[in-house]
Amino acid sequence: MNLLRPGSGFGMAGWRLVCAAVALALWRPAESCPTACTCTGFRIYCADTERSIAAFPALSEPEMENITDIYIANQSSFSSINDKDLTFYRNLRNLTVTNTRLTYVSRKAFQNNVKLQYLNLKDNNLSSLSWKTVHHLNISSLLLSGNPLQCSCENMWMKQGRGDESEAAELMCVEEGGKRRHLSKLTLPNCVVPTVSLHPKSVTLMAGSNITLSCNASGMPTPDLNWITCPLNSSHEIVTTGQTSILRLKDLSSLDNECKITCSSDNTAGESEASLHLDIHFAPTISKLMDAISDHHWCIPFSVSGNPQPKLQWQLRGEPLIEGAFIRTRIHDYSEHEYHGCLQLDNPTHINNGEYKLLASNRYGNDCKVVNAHFMHNPWNDTTATDSLYYDPTTDDTPLEPPEDRVAVYVVVGIAVVTFTGFVLMLVVLKFGRNSKFGIKGPSSVISNDDDSASPLHHVSNGSNTPSSSDMNADAVIIGMTKIPVIENPQYFRSNSNLHKSDTFVQHIKRHNIVLKRELGEGAFGKVFLAECYNLNLLHDQDKLLVAVKTLKEASENARKDFHREAELLTNLQHEHIVTFYGVCVESDPLIMVFEYMKHGDLNKFLRAHGPDAVLMADGQVQQQQAELTQSQMLHIAQQIAAGMVYLASQHFVHRDLATRNCLVGENLLVKIGDFGMSRDVYSTDYYRVGGHTMLPIRWMPPESIMYRKFTTESDVWSLGVVLWEIFTYGKQPWYQLSNNEVIECITQGRVLQRPRTCLKEVYDLMLGCWQREPHSRLNIREIHNLLLNLAKASPVYLDILG
Ligand SMILES: *[C@@H]1O[C@H](CO)[C@@H](O)[C@H](O)[C@H]1NC(C)=O
Ligand SMILES: *[C@@H]1O[C@H](CO)[C@@H](O)[C@H](O)[C@H]1NC(C)=O
Ligand SMILES: *[C@@H]1O[C@H](CO)[C@@H](O)[C@H](O)[C@H]1NC(C)=O
Ligand SMILES: *[C@@H]1O[C@H](CO)[C@@H](O)[C@H](O)[C@H]1NC(C)=O
Ligand SMILES: *[C@@H]1O[C@H](CO)[C@@H](O)[C@H](O)[C@H]1NC(C)=O
Ligand SMILES: *[C@@H]1O[C@H](CO)[C@@H](O)[C@H](O)[C@H]1NC(C)=O
Ligand SMILES: *[C@@H]1O[C@H](CO)[C@@H](O)[C@H](O)[C@H]1NC(C)=O
Ligand SMILES: *[C@@H]1O[C@H](CO)[C@@H](O)[C@H](O)[C@H]1NC(C)=O
Ligand SMILES: *[C@@H]1O[C@H](CO)[C@@H](O)[C@H](O)[C@H]1NC(C)=O
Repeated sequence: MNLLRPGSGFGMAGWRLVCAAVALALWRPAESCPTACTCTGFRIYCADTERSIAAFPALSEPEMENITDIYIANQSSFSSINDKDLTFYRNLRNLTVTNTRLTYVSRKAFQNNVKLQYLNLKDNNLSSLSWKTVHHLNISSLLLSGNPLQCSCENMWMKQGRGDESEAAELMCVEEGGKRRHLSKLTLPNCVVPTVSLHPKSVTLMAGSNITLSCNASGMPTPDLNWITCPLNSSHEIVTTGQTSILRLKDLSSLDNECKITCSSDNTAGESEASLHLDIHFAPTISKLMDAISDHHWCIPFSVSGNPQPKLQWQLRGEPLIEGAFIRTRIHDYSEHEYHGCLQLDNPTHINNGEYKLLASNRYGNDCKVVNAHFMHNPWNDTTATDSLYYDPTTDDTPLEPPEDRVAVYVVVGIAVVTFTGFVLMLVVLKFGRNSKFGIKGPSSVISNDDDSASPLHHVSNGSNTPSSSDMNADAVIIGMTKIPVIENPQYFRSNSNLHKSDTFVQHIKRHNIVLKRELGEGAFGKVFLAECYNLNLLHDQDKLLVAVKTLKEASENARKDFHREAELLTNLQHEHIVTFYGVCVESDPLIMVFEYMKHGDLNKFLRAHGPDAVLMADGQVQQQQAELTQSQMLHIAQQIAAGMVYLASQHFVHRDLATRNCLVGENLLVKIGDFGMSRDVYSTDYYRVGGHTMLPIRWMPPESIMYRKFTTESDVWSLGVVLWEIFTYGKQPWYQLSNNEVIECITQGRVLQRPRTCLKEVYDLMLGCWQREPHSRLNIREIHNLLLNLAKASPVYLDILG
């Protein structure tokens, strides 16, 4: 090699090595461009007639690597292109060698120059060029004219031309006598390009079989026969006699499945080949089944071989696993004769924990393997939790149905007021971020109604006074016996500043302006009355207004403070689809809050009363047959709730308990969001009691709220989807056919409610848009409102039916 030349004068091998190293290190400049040439970054140009080069310039390896173009012309000393001359010019595309004494081009000259496209060897001294020199190249232009090519079999392949057809037609050759002829018109008697045939044409066999492949070749001169195969694992032998060769494969190994077997023949005139792929059938083997790993999705990785491709089935704890959108088998890759894949699980929960068994089968047999997967602890059952204070086995699973008469009382009395208390509580909690029972950070729950406590305000202060709560780390929530980490809710914290404005002016109403008319009901906190209110500032044309008045029984110092804070918050939350708060009366005990009175009570009751089952629902009371709600009226209701939710979202207020029971209906089908979490007495079956204190509206909650207590505007959107479902089912309970535990399982596994019979496809699509598993994929509350608005517009409402 050129690089070693400087050392070649020394006799001893050791010296050679040393000097070669020195040469490499010191004489590098000598390897650079010869004086006869110019070398730019990608091109070598040698056309200096005076100082001819004898071989291709040898530059440093990286430099040669960069060269794409070599042009050599008028070089009287240049006579051959040898095996390794162009080895390092890997990126060579154009090569021109013209007007030189080029006489010999090695068959392996362009072995490494697979990118060569343009090869110009015009006007040299070539008498022949083998097809083997260029057969591996994708040449678009090969120019050979102006060479004393012989009319020999070796040059016959040039008739076909390589890319440049016109050149091939013009190409001349010299016969033995010196006569020049057109190569394209030449025929030679003993020059035939080989053909091969391979038998059988394809092989599909069981592993362990024997097979004999035979390959016939014809051509002149007699071609060489070669078998080219993958590294065969099966034992094999080759017998060649004349122009036939036989390949015997014995005891076919499954490792040779898909092996390509080629029979190739060549002579000076050209080459040809025939090939097939072995298709070897064998029973499945599971070579790998590993512990679940958490990637973007959870994955239980496996590798399985088998031909035909095995059918894969899973069992979880001995039961067949039904695959669906959230759990499914995925094959990622077929390599090394194996299918590599995952049992992919989206957001698996404790329900998915257990022993997974993979069964692989095809018609030749089957295989199985088992792995234990653990995704998360059961959030409802953590034996490590020491605080069993709230664990109440009797109420853990099935909330008790309230007695029928109690329901009736509440329905009659109206829930509006109960509702207001929840609203108030919610606001207080949200504002002050206490460890309240309503609080997001609170120890016991998101929503709760402590039956033994006397006042809603008491709840709040009580919540933070409970030893179990104040001792708690703010990042954890106790549900039942379980400590669950809480993902803090940024919306919630922002809401504080937004809703608590320092300049809030709470309306004060004089006691003598409130005239109680009758009691509407009694909550844990105090009584609720229907009242007439005089001289309200808001009243322009009327002198009195029907209102709902909530009284506060007990008024400790703390309770009073909370009362005032709530009032400020309520004053700041004003919207046409949020129940109106008018003000407070604090002249003397009891403290009073004054709210808008909504004639028809809560929306759930209203829906049921205007549904097909209305008569059955009547509970023996005298109730007149009410007209069934129409589609357009349902849309009108839905649209109003969405409008209220748009407003809450704009205030960064996360509701957390949106449901029809927490909305109120006034005259002319006016609907307002009027409860922020206090209908648990009447609607206790809508809640899942976890431990003694916590009640969760799981049927309205998205998976992330159920699993991680994560409440956001997006989780409200999910609930809104459920509210739509309630509306279009005339107030049915979501998942009414399932127990609470079954509901949790359904939701966390990704099932959603079915399309109500009366529901338009557009509306159900909207529900599905609210029930996307990933919170960020859910529809935006504004989009929902616009969609509902458009649907509602398309079918105008006739309000008078309902009066
Ligand atoms: C090869 O080309 C690259 C990109 O054009 C350049 O950065 C590099 O310096 C070149 N190498 C040599 C040895 O010229
Ligand atoms: C090579 O020499 C011929 C005549 O000697 C001249 O016409 C031609 O231009 C030269 N080619 C180059 C590239 O210098
Ligand atoms: C050589 O290669 C370049 C780019 O790869 C191309 O533009 C050019 O046409 C080729 N042919 C000749 C004869 O230079
Ligand atoms: C051309 O090649 C032949 C051998 O193939 C050789 O005898 C002759 O000297 C060469 N001509 C030149 C000008 O190099
Ligand atoms: C061969 O070259 C042509 C164009 O020059 C190109 O379209 C084709 O893809 C190439 N084929 C291969 C196998 O590189
Ligand atoms: C394959 O050939 C071997 C002997 O070469 C024989 O023993 C064996 O039974 C054959 N197998 C089949 C499946 O025919
Ligand atoms: C292969 O060669 C054998 C013997 O020379 C002959 O009997 C057979 O017909 C040939 N098969 C083909 C496909 O040419
Ligand atoms: C065939 O594969 C097996 C398993 O990989 C190996 O042990 C054996 O040596 C292989 N046999 C041949 C002939 O390659
Ligand atoms: C709670 O876990 C314990 C042990 O891990 C188990 O024995 C008990 O059945 C579980 N209870 C429930 C309700 O899952």
